[in-house]
Amino acid sequence: MNILVTGGVGYIGAHTCVALLEAGHQVIIADNLCNSKVETLDRIRQITNKELTFYEVDITNELSLNNIFLSHYIDGVIHLAGFKAVGESIEKPLSYYYNNIVSTMLLAKACQKYGVRRFVFSSSATVYGDNEVPFIETMKLLPTTNPYGETKVMSERILTDIAKANPSWAVALLRYFNPVGAHESGLIGESPNGVPNNIMPYITQVAKGRLEKLKIFGSDYPTEDGTGIRDYIHVMDLAEGHVAALNNITEGVHIYNLGTGRGISVLELIEAFEKANGIKIPYEIVGRRPGDVASCYADVSNAKRKLGWIAKRDIFTMCRDAWRFENRYKE
Ligand code: NAD
Ligand code: UFG
Repeated sequence: MNILVTGGVGYIGAHTCVALLEAGHQVIIADNLCNSKVETLDRIRQITNKELTFYEVDITNELSLNNIFLSHYIDGVIHLAGFKAVGESIEKPLSYYYNNIVSTMLLAKACQKYGVRRFVFSSSATVYGDNEVPFIETMKLLPTTNPYGETKVMSERILTDIAKANPSWAVALLRYFNPVGAHESGLIGESPNGVPNNIMPYITQVAKGRLEKLKIFGSDYPTEDGTGIRDYIHVMDLAEGHVAALNNITEGVHIYNLGTGRGISVLELIEAFEKANGIKIPYEIVGRRPGDVASCYADVSNAKRKLGWIAKRDIFTMCRDAWRFENRYKE
């Protein structure tokens, strides 16, 4: 299939493009590089030994977006473009609502106009809010605590309503848990600007000596060791989940949790990183981070049953690959 990948130069997008190319699909990327680097494209080519097409466009520009649909026959879209920093979304709600919602609407509008019916959307476990774990797709969603999370809830809603009104549409809403790690080549991975917000890039920078120590946000959660529990998933497993969704998509709206189904605490993650890479990670315990939930992990039976997909890589592989990228190839 010819697949348009918005945000395809970004962290999850680049790995998804690798998985798509390896599965034999043609890839057309639309990305404005606001949070990614153009060099990543060559690294995707290097890993896969395949060509891809790139458009440097802001997909909130309708004219530029439509030009892509006019230039290519597109079988399906994977929509990853968007802003993703939770804290920043509280400071800049307008830019988050504008970028994340307008991009979804214009992409859906172009799909409608040009007869594209397969739509895969990057959603997030954040839409579950502070629900009971494990999170399951049929749960009633609880409020998220930030504009970023609301853009995911709203985009899911918009796509669901469009699919209801247009029965030929086939929409997959992929709720990602915590993507970490990097492609095993170490050529592509996560390179956040400035001090990382997320734990894995923070840990790799501590390991590298660029940051002094990890601050653990809270040790008084109602969890076994008191630290927050998350469902970390290797980014290549996540990428392969997109291919599975695309290959199996049928009419209607389908929601899939993409996680491992296993919860890991912050202390367990540090221990796994130390074991996998033989490096000590100094840390201190500080207060909770506002907006964090105690536990977040997935019930993954739906994706297993309907897509035949499960995450295969364990926490040690995630830690090893994250470190390899930080150590060898990151600019
Ligand atoms: P990322 O920032 O690395 O990638 C996003 C890409 O989209 C970037 O390359 C950026 O340049 C591009 N982009 C942003 N706005 C654009 C626009 N208007 N036009 C064209 N390109 C634009 O982020 P990521 O971690 O790869 O996340 C990808 C998607 O997955 C996002 O929608 C994010 O909300 C979602 N998601 C991420 C996580 C996570 O932990 N990383 C978790 C759940 C969901
Ligand atoms: N944590 C620390 N210290 C840090 C960073 C994080 O202790 O420096 C802890 C957090 O408190 C949490 C865990 O590590 O318990 C994971 O935190 P991350 O920031 O890595 O990830 P979150 O679960 O907070 O957020 C991620 C994505 C969001 C998404 C959310 C739900 O960043 O975009 O998962 O899917 F909305």
